[in-house]
Amino acid sequence: MGTPFITLLEPTKLDGYNPQLPHNMQAPHIPAPFKDAMEVRERVFVEEQGCPLEFEHDADDARSCHWIMYASVNTTTEPEQRDPHTLDVVRPRRSITQTVPIGTLRIVPFPHPPHPPDGARYVGGVLQDGSGNNSHPEQNGDGKLEESRSFNGNGNDSGNGLAAPRRHRGMSLVDERRMSAPMPYGADRQTDFHDGKESYVKLGRVAVLSEYRGRGIADQLWNAARQWLEQNPAFFNPSVKEWGMDVMKVDNTRDVPEWNGLVCVHAQEPVVKVYERWGFRLDRGMGKFYEENIPHVGMWTRLKIRVSEPTVYISGHR
Ligand SMILES: CC(C)(COP(=O)(O)OP(=O)(O)OC[C@H]1O[C@@H](n2cnc3c(N)ncnc32)[C@H](O)[C@@H]1OP(=O)(O)O)[C@@H](O)C(=O)NCCC(=O)NCCS
Repeated sequence: MGTPFITLLEPTKLDGYNPQLPHNMQAPHIPAPFKDAMEVRERVFVEEQGCPLEFEHDADDARSCHWIMYASVNTTTEPEQRDPHTLDVVRPRRSITQTVPIGTLRIVPFPHPPHPPDGARYVGGVLQDGSGNNSHPEQNGDGKLEESRSFNGNGNDSGNGLAAPRRHRGMSLVDERRMSAPMPYGADRQTDFHDGKESYVKLGRVAVLSEYRGRGIADQLWNAARQWLEQNPAFFNPSVKEWGMDVMKVDNTRDVPEWNGLVCVHAQEPVVKVYERWGFRLDRGMGKFYEENIPHVGMWTRLKIRVSEPTVYISGHR
């Protein structure tokens, strides 16, 4: 395997992506790095773990940042030929070197749907009510399923970079308004590491092809994503211009949701150790839930970001 390299795909319109079809049968306008991410996800989540193909691509893909790791792989197309008597090479081995995607992950910006209730089951990202029917899918004006609800961030860091069990601050008027608002910046239930209000990004779809596992590929992907997040902390902060104060249920820009370094992952139970190595801590308050029948738990970390100070203007001085 040649030296691997990582590509970042920032949020991209994926209109026309057909979730019923595999990556290599998508329309030409779908960006190649996204198809490459899907190639890895199909091999790992669909073929290996048995998740249905139509649920692999979801509405979060277009608004997420994706990191894709590639490796140069040399494959023999024709083996070497030797003279059977002299054993001299009569024709050397022929091969081609291809760059192939071997791992991926994504970071989904806030807002997010509410934390899964303990014991909950999700199929295709939709909470089931126990009878196999989805419960209370929320719809926006276009009749599309909405996945967004989130919170304003005001939490305190534990000081060691990790999210510590939080002291939950009281409800402000803004929180109350968001709680009663159907979309999109509602409040959530409190867990061990989340006060139910702070904005967080979600790490997900972490996958490495089975033949490349155990070589620290996932570590490299996470390091790339972590460093990028640390360097671009405001990237996902919503723009008042784009959303409008009304949608965010705020009266002034001070209350606009902002990211302060908090990251959540819904971790498949068998790989909790990998996330612990990356600094995530298990949130027992989130319980255990099932996504496509695979048991998951909630984990959190807090990245060290530099929060920009608001500019204060004093009359006559700048
Ligand atoms: C989780 C995953 C992304 C880790 O990727 P990776 O690049 O192999 O990560 P690492 O190299 O750090 O190895 C992780 C662990 O798997 C072990 N491992 C080694 N070879 C392995 C192999 N062939 N298959 C599986 N795990 C292997 C490693 O020893 C390591 O264990 P350790 O943390 O106790 O040392 C990868 O195993 C994967 O794609 N799993 C299936 C999809 C999945 O579960 N994703 C997580 C969704 S929440």
